[in-house]
Amino acid sequence: MIMEVNLTVLLRLLVTALSVVIFLSWTVCGLDNGLALTPPMGWLSWGKFRCKTDCRKDPRNCLSEKLFQEMADTLISDGYKAAGYEYINIDDCWMSRMRDREQRLFPDPQRFPNGIQGIANYVHDRGLKLGIYNTFGKTTCMGFPGSQGFLELDAKTFAEWQVDMLKMDGCFTPTHLIPDGYMDMHRFLNATGRHILYSCSWPFYLRADGKHPNYNHIAKYCNIWRNSMDIEDSWESVLKIIDDFAAHQDAHIPAAGPGHFHDPDMLVVGGSGLDLAQSQTQFALWAILAAPLLMGNDLRSVKPEFRDVLLNTDVIAVNQDPLGRMGQKIFTDSVRRVEGWKRELTNEKYAIVYFNRNTKEETLYKTSLTAMRLPRNHTYDLRDLFLKKHFGHFKVEEEFKISIPPNGVRMFKTSSCSLPKNFVHDGL
Ligand SMILES: *[C@@H]1O[C@H](CO)[C@@H](O)[C@H](O)[C@H]1NC(C)=O
Repeated sequence: MIMEVNLTVLLRLLVTALSVVIFLSWTVCGLDNGLALTPPMGWLSWGKFRCKTDCRKDPRNCLSEKLFQEMADTLISDGYKAAGYEYINIDDCWMSRMRDREQRLFPDPQRFPNGIQGIANYVHDRGLKLGIYNTFGKTTCMGFPGSQGFLELDAKTFAEWQVDMLKMDGCFTPTHLIPDGYMDMHRFLNATGRHILYSCSWPFYLRADGKHPNYNHIAKYCNIWRNSMDIEDSWESVLKIIDDFAAHQDAHIPAAGPGHFHDPDMLVVGGSGLDLAQSQTQFALWAILAAPLLMGNDLRSVKPEFRDVLLNTDVIAVNQDPLGRMGQKIFTDSVRRVEGWKRELTNEKYAIVYFNRNTKEETLYKTSLTAMRLPRNHTYDLRDLFLKKHFGHFKVEEEFKISIPPNGVRMFKTSSCSLPKNFVHDGL
């Protein structure tokens, strides 16, 4: 009798302890500043304009008030804003070479005659948001004044200018100071009372030093974080990042969710390095990865077929799915050189991508949804997100064929229907 009571009590205790553990592991979530509930979308100057500061030689392409105004204008006139892109982000090289007498940062007055506040007003008046950049360490990556010793002051300055996002880089900072630095800046940003989306390069600098970042920890302080090298406007660079993400997906996925996402870096779609198939691949996989969609192109000269990729509202909807779950590579068919990627969406829908790693030939690929490990006992309607049409209706084990262009993808969204009770499997 006593034994039984003890057992029951013990069992209860165990269950309680377990549920506490489960509850905790479900509530270990990230930063709750109310931002980046879905991955941020916008445009960033680094991809195309790097550190162009000579406005006499190159007035059209130097980092200046005019450039950012033109990007804001184009974001609106060419339909990007309507599709969800809202951040205009200033990267490195906006500053004067020195701080002012009160040690505050200020922009190069020739290039930014109305200050950063002037650009902030300009983009806010148009319903857009402004991002800015700095670096830990004495200087920025390109040699402008860094935030070392001035984190609190810089946070206040950015808030006063009404900045909406901060990309904090980590050049010239000893690795052991990186975690505390990013956590301090998080606190200083929070203390300003202004909601500033916080983009960290924290894990990249740890990895560059051979260390393993604790992504769950980073997700408590940062809205988005860079894991890998700067992207270049080339197919090799895009592939390198895709493969790096696939190789580390088990470590990445638990830390991603609404408010906190991994950042494989900018979209280079609309530049000169990728063809159309490659552009669709980057866009599709960035959607699967729940990655920020920050374009690194010159919006003023994006060709219409590439703009169509960037404005594909079906793919954007996958990227912005409110469940915020990061997708992953599901299979590699090394014989046919085809990869399968999948992301779970709200309402038991899925986005799936077939990626052709062949660089020259189109591949006619025979497969079934079993390979994508979709739940059985359902049938699935497939909509092709780039061809923008219904593709077919399949049972999980039913085979179908798709042709995939070299370096390209076929991307589908599934809607499932439960099988009727009297349904008989022809297989099994
Ligand atoms: C500051 O942090 C608190 C607690 O995490 C959060 O509720 C609040 O929204 C944050 N405020 C800003 C301005 O980020």
